[in-house]
Amino acid sequence: MMTEGRVAIVTGGGQGIGRAVVMDLAASGVSVVVADINLQAAQEAAGAAAAMGVDCLAVKVNVAEPADVQAMVDETLEKFGRVDYLVNNAGITRDALLMRMEDDAWNTVLGINLTGTYLCSKAVVRIMMKQRSGRIVNISSVVGAMGNAGQTNYAASKAGVIGFTKSQAREGAARGITVNAVAPGFIKTAMTDALPEKARNDLVALIPSGRLGTPEDVASAVRFLVSDEASYVTGQVLHVNGGMYM
Ligand SMILES: NC(=O)c1ccc[n+]([C@@H]2O[C@H](COP(=O)([O-])OP(=O)(O)OC[C@H]3O[C@@H](n4cnc5c(N)ncnc54)[C@H](O)[C@@H]3O)[C@@H](O)[C@H]2O)c1
Repeated sequence: MMTEGRVAIVTGGGQGIGRAVVMDLAASGVSVVVADINLQAAQEAAGAAAAMGVDCLAVKVNVAEPADVQAMVDETLEKFGRVDYLVNNAGITRDALLMRMEDDAWNTVLGINLTGTYLCSKAVVRIMMKQRSGRIVNISSVVGAMGNAGQTNYAASKAGVIGFTKSQAREGAARGITVNAVAPGFIKTAMTDALPEKARNDLVALIPSGRLGTPEDVASAVRFLVSDEASYVTGQVLHVNGGMYM
């Protein structure tokens, strides 16, 4: 797949799914800007990616902060002179039943997951418009499509990401910019490792493939969507969930 020599920004690239995306893109010859609120994790991931022979950069960013986001894009342009791919992956959960939901949990989750996606996308879109090419992949969630008790804030943010994706896809298509979402199901990360064994087994019983997904399963889908071969795919939601939701 044609990706070599391109420049990507991956938010939340320091660990979990984001880190797998960073490693996968680097292995495909893409220079990666690893942008994370945890600078140490970003530096570690950028170092591991650079060991594959591509130029990488670690940047500390809170995607919910407009000034941080602009600085991230400015640093990228300074080092690489272009931005070909943006992967909006940074995301958090603050779970509670609605009747017990703190306003802060609502605002913080929407602020990072949805407003963060808006801010990062807006900061690169003019550059991609000028290049007349670009790929944006937004990491949504199966929960944004099917809902989940205890996650009204998270589900709203991830469903919002899907509406945002489709609208930006319509704006960018004629300029060679594609915008798609990847909606992972339950992926084996620190989050799902923390589940008690029974809860994990109950979860797996809902998945036709009979296993949790891996961060690499998600990274492969991202790699396809950013590739030249996916130039006619835009405004789509690619579900990576082992058949859990169809
Ligand atoms: N793990 C799953 O099962 C699963 C399922 C569906 C969707 N997702 C989505 O995939 C994405 C990655 O999830 P993960 O499981 O790898 O999570 P994770 O918690 O392992 O990693 C998230 C990364 O984002 C960074 N981050 C958090 N807030 C940030 C901010 N404000 N600005 C910049 N960086 C920030 C963290 O430091 C961390 O490195 C998230 O958007 C999540 O909602 C995960």
